[in-house]
Amino acid sequence: MKTIQWYVDKDVDNLMSNPQLDEAANLLKKNEVVAFPTETVYGLGANAKSDLAVAKIYEAKGRPSDNPLIVHIAELNQLEELVTFVPEKANLLINRFWPGPLTIILNREPNILSEKVTPGMDTVAIRMPDHPIALELIRKAQLPIAAPSANRSGKPSPTIAEHVLEDLNGQISGVVNGGDTGVGVESTVIDCTQEIPMILRPGGISKEEIENVVGEVFIDPSINEETPSRPKSPGMKYTHYAPDAPVYLVNGTFSFLQDLVNKKQREGLKVGVIATEETKKDYHADVVLACGRRSDLQSVAHSLYETLRTFNSKDVDIIYSETFPLEGIGLAIMNRLEKAAGHRWIHQNQ
Ligand code: TXA
Ligand code: MG
Repeated sequence: MKTIQWYVDKDVDNLMSNPQLDEAANLLKKNEVVAFPTETVYGLGANAKSDLAVAKIYEAKGRPSDNPLIVHIAELNQLEELVTFVPEKANLLINRFWPGPLTIILNREPNILSEKVTPGMDTVAIRMPDHPIALELIRKAQLPIAAPSANRSGKPSPTIAEHVLEDLNGQISGVVNGGDTGVGVESTVIDCTQEIPMILRPGGISKEEIENVVGEVFIDPSINEETPSRPKSPGMKYTHYAPDAPVYLVNGTFSFLQDLVNKKQREGLKVGVIATEETKKDYHADVVLACGRRSDLQSVAHSLYETLRTFNSKDVDIIYSETFPLEGIGLAIMNRLEKAAGHRWIHQNQ
């Protein structure tokens, strides 16, 4: 299959009358899969009502079929058809954060969506992305769009169209190239089917921001365990985001990390370091990449997946990574780094 690439400038082009988005939307209506930018990462979209279309997502990604998909909508009135009921707290979150990087889990209205979107579940995950191209594409398709991140299963999520093509060229009908995404990590997933909502995946909207709107929220205890037990969000149990070389998270001083590098280099290994703009020049290793600025964790989230992907072209044997505070978006950053590292930590004081 030839993968079409449509270049669309979200800031300049008149999206409503954009013929390239029309073409992409028509393919979605014909149950083909099309990748598109959102404010978090690129999504791999398909008609959420069609078994055939949704099966193509799982196939292109090589995704385990027990891992449910997020359904993307562009208008609030699309929500009514998909869920049985919207509880008060979910409404508050929708009013405050949609469109935006918050995915809300609600009880699913039966027989509307393909069963493959929500394998074996009574619930469905829904979000309204805050990206003009995503919104216009969904409006034009006039469908709820199931869309996981547009990477091969296990790889870091794509934040530019080139990443999508790296993984899926020839396997999908097309990709709308709308440039760089913004947030860089995926949406926060929150289960609003219980009286006290529970965060199942940390992401673009922080726990603190959510608590300001609905008061107390739980956080799935498996999220921050070094060896997670049984996460409630099926996708959280799979290894993810991993570069080809093993990643180790280092909890210690700069010179402790540098000593680890020196030791491996003496053993003849090619060593990479995930640093920040502030610390990059201080390390001596084979490849040192700055992942944003430590003083601005949003910038770390923005560059994280690109940094992980870049290591694959550098051919290193082992990667040591700095770590970040578990506050605000730091919780999502550390959750993704933990997965990239397969929960391998090196603590200085042990
Ligand atoms: O930012 C995002 O959310 C991106 C963009 C493309 O919108 N999408 C994304 O989708 O990250 P995906 O499929 O890579 O991750 C969806 C996560 C998985 O961990 C999945 O298990 C969980 O949401 N999920 C989906 N439906 C669920 C449900 N009904 N109950 C619990 N978890 C659910
Ligand atoms: Mg994903």
